[in-house]
Amino acid sequence: MPFLSDTLSRVQPSPTIAMTNKAAELKAEGRDIIGLSAGEPDFDTPAHIAEAGRRAIAEGRTRYTAVDGIPELKRAIRAKFARDNDLDYAPSEISVGTGGKQVLYNALTATLNPGDEVIIPAPYWVSYPDMVRLAGGTPVTVACGLDTGFKITPAQLEAAITPATKWFVFNSPSNPTGAGYGWEELAALTEVLLRHPHVWVLTDDMYEHLTFGDFRFCTPAQVEPALKPRTLTVNGVSKAYAMTGWRIGYAAGPEPLIRAMAKVQSQSTSNPSSISQWAAVEALDGPQDFIADNNAVFARRRDLVVEGLNACPGVTCPVPDGAFYVYPDISGCIGKTSAGGTAIETDEDFATALLEEEGVAVVFGAAFGLSPNFRVSYATSDAMLSEACVRIRRFCEGLR
Ligand SMILES: Cc1ncc(COP(=O)(O)O)c(C=O)c1O
Repeated sequence: MPFLSDTLSRVQPSPTIAMTNKAAELKAEGRDIIGLSAGEPDFDTPAHIAEAGRRAIAEGRTRYTAVDGIPELKRAIRAKFARDNDLDYAPSEISVGTGGKQVLYNALTATLNPGDEVIIPAPYWVSYPDMVRLAGGTPVTVACGLDTGFKITPAQLEAAITPATKWFVFNSPSNPTGAGYGWEELAALTEVLLRHPHVWVLTDDMYEHLTFGDFRFCTPAQVEPALKPRTLTVNGVSKAYAMTGWRIGYAAGPEPLIRAMAKVQSQSTSNPSSISQWAAVEALDGPQDFIADNNAVFARRRDLVVEGLNACPGVTCPVPDGAFYVYPDISGCIGKTSAGGTAIETDEDFATALLEEEGVAVVFGAAFGLSPNFRVSYATSDAMLSEACVRIRRFCEGLR
């Protein structure tokens, strides 16, 4: 009898970890490596938020709390949804977990039965398909390429829906592409969903506040209020507030689902860190102006990287609307051989050779379900990004 569960055998080991390990190995050997694979802002948590965490410790707010969040944080989340998204949720319709990741995991675990299908547009955040598999469901991925700006079309969504569809996973702005759906684009998708009342919407709004230029964020239950009774709106403080290590995410949706998610959490981790919850109250209630300052920095870096990558032969890099990633297409590089003699048959070959020959660590597209591409996280200094672009260009110019 095998010791490990059958469920675990359905899950792939993370290809992103393999790349990160390889980069760490080369660094340990003394190589000069530029890491562009991190999925987190390079800013520190703002001082007033960190101070709220210190205050929580000093005041002894260090005991177990209600499983899915303290009332003060639920109130702050309620106010945030009203302020930013025109959505009215009661505290009983709100759940707080240890990061957006746990909240998504709770939702899938609480709802999926064998045979249930979950529609996931690709490229996708690496965890969605494996979370679905761990919860016993079947991921149904839909390839959304450069031609549609990496976005799912209403026709694609319509074609992917079957009687077994339970959830449609929606993520805007997206990890890994940075692509965001405008109001009209999202309305065209919600129109499809209105025709299929058995399909629920799992919207991951983690990058809501990280947007640039004229792009205006919107979320499904706001665009189509009739979908609110079957939408779970997931968000968190990790990215916009530079709080990845604090581990606070949250969601709002119909009360029976929220109660079921709390049940899952009550038998796994119980409450998220009490200290982090108090810091999250300050994040949501406190000054928000630093977000625009951070975004100005990210927008500058985005432009630098998009320009640098589009100057590389064989690379096409669209301009993203948000997040801190770009996802260039490298069709023009496939089938060639690198200056170091590696045959570039796949985007994994490209990323591996780029790391070995030029010391730049990116994540290859196959990890996100759409190839041939790679993901660059530009949450690092301008100097590093400029040097990385020089190296990537040299690598591409060396392809024969
Ligand atoms: C699209 C997306 N959703 C959810 C998460 C998880 O966020 P958290 O760190 O709050 O668990 C991430 C983190 O990388 C993400 O990129």
